[in-house]
Amino acid sequence: MEKPVYYAATEGGDYAFAVSAAAMKFGAGVLAELGDDARAQGLKRVALFIDPEVADTAPAEVATASLKRAGIDAVVYDEIAVEPTDTSFLAAADFARDGKFDGFVSLGGGSTMDTAKAANLYATHPADFLAYVNLPYGEFRAVPGPLKPHIACPTTSGTGSETTSTAVMDITALKVKTAISNRMLKPTLALVDPTTTRTLPAGVVASTGFDVLTHAIESYTARPYTTRSRPKSPDQRPVFQGANPYSDVGSLEAIRLGGKYLVRAVENADDHEARHMLMLAATMAGLSFGNAGVHLPHAMSYGVAGLCHTWRAAGYEKAAPMVPHGIAVVLNAPTAFRFTAAAAPERHLAAAEALGADTRNAAPEHGGELLAGRLIEMMRQTGLPNGTGALGFTEADIPDLVERGYNQPRLVVLAPCNVTKDDVAAMYRNGLRYW
Ligand SMILES: [Fe+2]
Repeated sequence: MEKPVYYAATEGGDYAFAVSAAAMKFGAGVLAELGDDARAQGLKRVALFIDPEVADTAPAEVATASLKRAGIDAVVYDEIAVEPTDTSFLAAADFARDGKFDGFVSLGGGSTMDTAKAANLYATHPADFLAYVNLPYGEFRAVPGPLKPHIACPTTSGTGSETTSTAVMDITALKVKTAISNRMLKPTLALVDPTTTRTLPAGVVASTGFDVLTHAIESYTARPYTTRSRPKSPDQRPVFQGANPYSDVGSLEAIRLGGKYLVRAVENADDHEARHMLMLAATMAGLSFGNAGVHLPHAMSYGVAGLCHTWRAAGYEKAAPMVPHGIAVVLNAPTAFRFTAAAAPERHLAAAEALGADTRNAAPEHGGELLAGRLIEMMRQTGLPNGTGALGFTEADIPDLVERGYNQPRLVVLAPCNVTKDDVAAMYRNGLRYW
């Protein structure tokens, strides 16, 4: 199906895709160049957002020493919520506004980078919180102009937030997880140093690693941009525009790298090669899905995370009572891909093959099952729960899950087929238990 859909738009479909590339530097030891990069951006006084879990580790030492060497005044902010909320974003924005900084540096996982993005946004272009939040919860208002420079330094190989235009948070009063998505939010530079992941606990590598894999598989199997509705004006073309020739390349390679290195990176913290390559997979997936988007597994994860059932699996207690994002996503992935495969069988087969499934003699219609099967195999190998049932969800939770998971139009629309509420209910039901 790939060649015809990219050759010409379908009736009313979009005829163009945009690549909003992120500046990125990748390599073991590159964090020590932070000060030089900040100076090159013309920065003299920065807000340094640090994940409290990272504050006393070697990467924090390297980053602060590098800024100091470059003569840059850095003020640390470490009140980062594990799962950010509207309240935590606004508190960070107050800090950013009061500090009169000329730029931002973030060091940590997705929550830290997202908090810095939001602080930069609301300090630079103040507005009511919901003004910039995605529909249907917010107004999705255009950001009036560029933000201040932001150098994002990830310390987990997961979210890809360092190269994306999205900041994810809970709106506490509504008990929903949603996001701010705007091209202005994209960090000015992503400084990706894989050595920062060497000390991560196995549980964090697993949850963030499966986030990487789902980013890559979802963007590869997303609705092609040519079948997404044509925007009324060019500025309304969404960040998440559907699968396209640019994102396909990085997505497929990220799937291949994840299939080869994720289990090894979880099993052995001393396997530096595996952790290095998983970080590369995360970066490539981030660059790709940042332009293409993700669909059902991520949409459905908002239901799981929003309902916040107690997290009970051994080895993940640190995140309790939150369900780590990557886990909330991947638990919905096999059931979602079994559903979406019929709409794009060859893509699902190609993803299964890249992930390491044995696809010899397989017909395209087996793609969904092979992809789901290989994912389940990797989930078992890394000690993940056997479905959302293991988190405490039952049949009785399905209406609530559907309410939250389906109400993510930006994501649901990118599934390669039309999706009803009943479809989502059936997917949640089939994801309660895999083995
Ligand atoms: Fe994700």
